Amino acid sequence: MRRIFTSALSLKEQIDISRIPKHIAVIMDGNGRWARQQGEQRVFGHHHGVRAVRETAESCAELGVGYLTLYAFSTENWSRPKEEVDALMELLVQTISGEIKTLMDNKIRLKAIGDLDSLPSNCHDELNQAIATTSSNAGMELILALSYSSRWEITKAVKEIAQAVKEGKISPDEINEQIIENHLYTNGFPDPELMIRTSGEMRVSNFLLWQIAYTELYITPVLWPDFGRDELYKAIIDFQKRERRFGMTSEQLTIK
Ligand code: IPE
Ligand code: IPE
Ligand code: MG
Repeated sequence: MRRIFTSALSLKEQIDISRIPKHIAVIMDGNGRWARQQGEQRVFGHHHGVRAVRETAESCAELGVGYLTLYAFSTENWSRPKEEVDALMELLVQTISGEIKTLMDNKIRLKAIGDLDSLPSNCHDELNQAIATTSSNAGMELILALSYSSRWEITKAVKEIAQAVKEGKISPDEINEQIIENHLYTNGFPDPELMIRTSGEMRVSNFLLWQIAYTELYITPVLWPDFGRDELYKAIIDFQKRERRFGMTSEQLTIK
C-alpha cells in the first residue's frame, strides 16, 4: 500500500528559530467587540483577554523572545466609563496575583512602564510585589504598559533634559538620541523589532512612538481574546519574510 506523507510543516516549524525578534510589542485590542459579538458586556471581553495574555507570554518565552511589551491600558483609556475603568483595574490586580506562578514557571521577569503613580494603590502595590518576586528570573522580560502614553513619556523626557541643561549638567549640543532614550521609560530595553496589533485597527494609538521608528508592523483582524499561540507564530513567520532595509537599498543588504 502506498503511504502518503504530508510535507506540510506546522506553523511552529516554519519559524526560523535563529531569527526570533528580540523584542515584540503588542497592542491588545478588540476585547469590547469580542464581547459584543457574544452578546455580552465589554468587561466580559477583558476577562477573556487574560487567556490570550498568558498564552502569548508563555509562547514568547518558549521561543526565546527577550522582551514582550503589552499595551494593557493607555492614558486615554482613563476616559472610558467609570465602571469599565474600575473593572479593568480590578482585573489587573487579580491577574497579576493570579499569574505569579505562570511567571515563575516560565522564568519571566515582570516590568511596567507608564504613569504608574496614577494607578489605584492596591494595583500599584500588587504590581510592585510581582515585580520584586520575579526580579531574579533569568528569562524573558514581560513589560506591561499601564496608564501609558508615548507623548506623555516624550514630554517627560524633554522636561528632564531641559532641567539637566538648566542645571549645567549637559549642554544643548550634547543632546543626542542616546540621551533622549535614557530618559524614556523603555531605557534599557531594545526597540521592538515587531509590533502586533489585533482587531484590525490601522493605528498605533500613542504607543511607543519613538521606539517604533523602524519596527515591523503586523496588524491582524483577530480580536484579542481569540489571539493565541498560532496567531503569534503567524506574526513571526510574516516578520521573518520581511526585508528590513533601514533606509538602505536591497542591493546593499545582500553585499556581504
Ligand atoms: C482592548 O480592547 C483593551 C483595552 C484597551 C483596555 P478594547 O476594550 O479597546 O476593545 P474594542 O476595541 O472596544 O473592541
Ligand atoms: C489601544 O487600544 C490601547 C490598548 C490596547 C491598551 P484602544 O482601543 O484604546 O485604541 P483606539 O481608541 O481604538 O485608538
Ligand atoms: Mg479598542
